[in-house]
Amino acid sequence: MLINNWYVAARAAEIGAKPFKSRMLGLDFMLFRDGSGKINCMSGVCCHRGGALHRGEIKADCIVCPYHGWEFNTSGACTKIPSMGDEISVPKRARIDTYPVQEKMGMVWVFLGDEEESKRPAIPDWYEPFLNAPEWRVVTYDYIYTDVNWARLGENSVDTSHPAFVHKAFGNRLSPKANIVPITDTAFGATVTRERAAPPNSQKSGAMQKILPTDRKTTRVTLEFSMVGITEMLYQEMTSEITQVLFSARTPIDEYNTKSYGFQARNFLMEPEQDAERIKGLFQAIEEDHNIVRFVKPKLTPKSTTEEFLVEADGMELTYRRKVQEWARSRGAIDTDAYEAAAKQQIMVIASPARRADPKGWVHKPVPLQPMTATAAIAAE
Ligand code: FES
Ligand SMILES: [Fe+2]
Repeated sequence: MLINNWYVAARAAEIGAKPFKSRMLGLDFMLFRDGSGKINCMSGVCCHRGGALHRGEIKADCIVCPYHGWEFNTSGACTKIPSMGDEISVPKRARIDTYPVQEKMGMVWVFLGDEEESKRPAIPDWYEPFLNAPEWRVVTYDYIYTDVNWARLGENSVDTSHPAFVHKAFGNRLSPKANIVPITDTAFGATVTRERAAPPNSQKSGAMQKILPTDRKTTRVTLEFSMVGITEMLYQEMTSEITQVLFSARTPIDEYNTKSYGFQARNFLMEPEQDAERIKGLFQAIEEDHNIVRFVKPKLTPKSTTEEFLVEADGMELTYRRKVQEWARSRGAIDTDAYEAAAKQQIMVIASPARRADPKGWVHKPVPLQPMTATAAIAAE
């Protein structure tokens, strides 16, 4: 799981004045909205004796741990230790990590890492033109892919040869041959545009079947992904007038479960009463993918490409793997095996920017990371 990355922790509407728990990268985080309306995110585990902060309460913009009442402010510093009385000054080491937050497009993005602000990648803004635009009708959705690793899910999303077999509503088994076209690298991802054979109209249902021309031969699909926020965007041009856009940000709950925050925008069947059928179709496709990927083995991406028989049509999946590796080597990734072994009796956290600025005097240790290489760091710049 990649660190020094932005992840969606919640929908903005979920965060209020009460503590909210979000699990990301196998760790607990606690979020709340302070008196000024700003969302704060901090490690969810108290540095005293491991109390669960999301079960505490907010008092004057501080989180009060439910176990012994220690209070932490929005910078993570402990301001009160009731058992020691008011006369002592609280030691600096009584502090917890806090993380940068951005509220964007109704989602709460948290930066999980210690990188300074100027080096943090920008959150993808591909979806912004579709939101609040009169020519697009948008529906949002959240979905938990249980038993699915985030990178295995990403490979499925960028895989343009599976729809013919997995998705009856938009794949065509009669013409599964992939159109091999160049893939364009972007800073932290890649993009590709392909024509794929459209399914016969009889495979469509409901209102969609009525509006699509019966002689339609292809769908033009542009796919773009980025490791920033584990995001992807899919433009499906069914005809020159009928386009559907899918966006999602995938947050690893842990190595084996993934939460997707997404939306679908369409420029057809714009009436709100059409939403229910669109959402039904969307969830059908999501569940079709889920029922493939949760049974794929191994659960995690193989370390070597020779352990699977990859073909030319798998080019985007290979690019995806390369982008994961480049990020891991240059910006950091958790060493999950080492972390899981250590985590049985030890709380570990993602190092926050305050820790980089002042590395000594923290109770919880940072999670172990995979080896990073100087060459990869240079290549990524
Ligand atoms: S565990 Fe939080 S105050 Fe004791
Ligand atoms: Fe799919």
